[in-house]
Amino acid sequence: HIGEVGDFLGQNVFVVGGFVRDLLLRQENFDIDVVVEGDGIGFAEEFGRRHGCRVRAHRKFATAVLVFPDGFKIDVASARTEYYLEPGALPTVETASIKLDLYRRDFTINTLAIAMNRAHFGELLDYFGGQSDLREKAIRVLHNLSFVEDPTRMFRAIRFEQRLAFQLGRHTEHLLKSAVRMGFLEKVSGPRVFNEMLLILREPDPLPAIARLDELGLLAYIHPRMSCRSEINRLLAAAKRTVDWYELLYTGEGCQRWQVFFLCLFSGLDESEVNQVLRHLGMPPRYAEFFGPERETVHRIVHQLEWRCSQRRNLSNSEVYRMLRELPIEALLYGMARTEHEEARRLMSHFVTHLRSVVSLIGGRDLQSMGLKPGPCYGEILNKLVAARLDGLVSTREDELRLVRR
Ligand code: CTP
Repeated sequence: HIGEVGDFLGQNVFVVGGFVRDLLLRQENFDIDVVVEGDGIGFAEEFGRRHGCRVRAHRKFATAVLVFPDGFKIDVASARTEYYLEPGALPTVETASIKLDLYRRDFTINTLAIAMNRAHFGELLDYFGGQSDLREKAIRVLHNLSFVEDPTRMFRAIRFEQRLAFQLGRHTEHLLKSAVRMGFLEKVSGPRVFNEMLLILREPDPLPAIARLDELGLLAYIHPRMSCRSEINRLLAAAKRTVDWYELLYTGEGCQRWQVFFLCLFSGLDESEVNQVLRHLGMPPRYAEFFGPERETVHRIVHQLEWRCSQRRNLSNSEVYRMLRELPIEALLYGMARTEHEEARRLMSHFVTHLRSVVSLIGGRDLQSMGLKPGPCYGEILNKLVAARLDGLVSTREDELRLVRR
């Protein structure tokens, strides 16, 4: 269908980038990027009319997003239409523009394109040796200034290298190291670096990539003392096991794995160093709150729990619940990974698997119908009911009603 619309409008249309790379690697990828030689927005509008898609156009970038009725999306971009082989020359034939568009990309493995127009349907365009680098499992830039033009590509290089189990080409690694040495990352805004870190920490197993970032001096850019050696490495491995364990539980509540890993990376830094990083990366306020004050809260609570466990007194379910209930799941998982106290870890995992989701069977409406005036006492009563349930003092609704009456 993409090709048909292109033929109708007299435009050459291609599927490009990550989708083609992953197709050749036989890896799943549902992010389809289309490049149109000509007006990409016009293409998207015509396609949308024919196939009932909504079109979100970004005129400034000459790009559009096609949104299908089921929510599926396709990104459409316009390749630059004019391409001068030499100053003052006439623009070359249109096919040169897809080539130029591909030349602006980060790595050779991302420069592959597949033609969609009927006359050339399915033809693979490989101008920069992308297929051969896929075969050699190599991440290579297209030209020497690639990391200088866009230093965030250093993070992307590591992400692809580790995700695909490829290796940086020798020359590319050399270019990356000199870009780090020459401090090109300083020119990149903190939020862009944060975004790249986020993408890395969201990979299924970010640990090898983190180690590689450290080795190449990229973690030190975030903070000179940020590293994943020795005990941080142990912590990260424990965090990975813990989040994997949690996801296997299928509690119905997701967890932001990247936050757990970021907490681990922060754990070698003190409070003021963490604040420096948060400012530097320009973290949105809700994350700044989580990694700042809330991190301190987790440390305090885990410490208290360890101390109480070491007193060798059995903690009741409701006591454990009261200590841990304020913590978001990411903080709990980090706490579990962090503690070296067997019993504290057991209690935290018991809280996650059994206690955390306990609620009372009666609610505000029941209290109202019992003639209680709504107010803060509702919260208190319901909390007491939860505590009673956690400690096995009530089991049915009747038990709870009876307890309230008392
Ligand atoms: N790109 C680039 N430089 C960047 C970011 C992106 O050259 N700093 C190019 C890449 O060639 C990439 C394309 O823009 O193919 C689209 O970017 P993105 O969607 O981030 O890349 P994917 O390859 O699709 O990555 P992923 O598999 O993680 O979605």
